[in-house]
Amino acid sequence: MRRYLISGNWKMNTTRATAVELAKALVSGAAAATDQVDVLIFPPAPYLIPVQDAVAGSAIQVGGQNAYFAAPGAFTGEVALDMLQDIGCESVLVGHSERRHVFGETDELINQKVKAGLEKGFQVVLCVGELIEERQAQQTEAVLDRQMAGGLAGVSAEQMASIVIAYEPVWAIGTGHTASPEQAESAHAHLRSWLTSHYNAQVAEATRILYGGSVKASNAAELLGQPNVDGALVGGASLKAADFLPIIEAGVNAAG
Ligand code: PGA
Repeated sequence: MRRYLISGNWKMNTTRATAVELAKALVSGAAAATDQVDVLIFPPAPYLIPVQDAVAGSAIQVGGQNAYFAAPGAFTGEVALDMLQDIGCESVLVGHSERRHVFGETDELINQKVKAGLEKGFQVVLCVGELIEERQAQQTEAVLDRQMAGGLAGVSAEQMASIVIAYEPVWAIGTGHTASPEQAESAHAHLRSWLTSHYNAQVAEATRILYGGSVKASNAAELLGQPNVDGALVGGASLKAADFLPIIEAGVNAAG
């Protein structure tokens, strides 16, 4: 049985004060939910420590939105995986569409980050997803195949136990145009069959595949009710406890 994972990607939002306030609201609102589902938040790097302090003693997990694969050294502006580890982060987001399309990250760089994260013992949430023009050109599955093969190159079946896949169609991110439950399920089923053919049935069965892209309280239940959707990666609606807590609750209901 795959345990649902409801995650919140805060992107480049919040202040120190609002980040801590949001984290505290999640602790009080999601205490019971974390018995049944995993809850993981990705605050901006400068607020990781105060947010960790705010969730201390709860089951809410805190991860990094990005990290560089190299050991600490002369990489101005980057955050090392070692640094995330040093402050107690156990998860890292890799290959988010904004990293790919705004900052030009390639599958090759993403693969280096995935492998370095795994070597250090992180849970790596690897994001994949097609652009609107790729979907319109019937290229969705080809794009997903390429991103999976590129991102997971050299990753063993054993290491797959620490990988979570997030399917995030780029056209659905921050646009309000959520994928329909059918579109999400079809992509997730495709990703799971990719895992079967490139690894094996056990890996495919055990790997969690999250959906991301305009997830809201109003559509979460239907998306999470799809057989191959194992959680959500939520952007905009993770920035307010009143929006995010009902999505966690939808995960609890889907799990029950
Ligand atoms: P959104 O973002 O929920 O605001 O569409 C999702 C994401 O980018 O992870």
